[in-house]
Amino acid sequence: PLPEVLDEAMIHAVVHGFYDGIRKDALLGPIFDGAIAPEEWPVHLAKMCDFWSATLLRTDRYEGRPLPPHLAIPELGEQHFRRWLTLFRATVERLCPPEVADLFLDRALRIAHSFRLAIAFSRGE
Ligand code: HEM
Repeated sequence: PLPEVLDEAMIHAVVHGFYDGIRKDALLGPIFDGAIAPEEWPVHLAKMCDFWSATLLRTDRYEGRPLPPHLAIPELGEQHFRRWLTLFRATVERLCPPEVADLFLDRALRIAHSFRLAIAFSRGE
């Protein structure tokens, strides 16, 4: 059963807290700013709230395909995934009780791994 404290408000706090940090990050900030225009950020953040809501609360708010935009970032590599996951871990550990932080992290790790495999495959590695 899902912990009761995991709700849309917590997802909103995690998503907004995480991307506030990412946009200021020296390694990841430029990648996001290259892909998302300033006026598009509210759309991206709303989409990421939908994504996590669908992923963790099994709502049907996200029906997109997460992989393609990542395949379209040519420089995306291991160091970016490590940084992304470090920042994500710090965010959920700061904002969520441990059992909720674990749910976020477990999902993020699995998806990051599937992205890494797909990127390697698409580059013929
Ligand atoms: C979208 C970067 C890892 C989930 C995006 C976009 C960028 C990006 C720039 C926006 C693309 C666009 O709108 O043109 C990155 C980087 C990552 C990373 C640099 C780390 C190396 C992840 C991980 C997850 C994730 C681990 C899942 C846990 C998503 C989703 C979208 C997205 C769901 C929206 C896709 C859609 O348009 O429907 N990412 N990402 N990303 N990312 Fe990531």
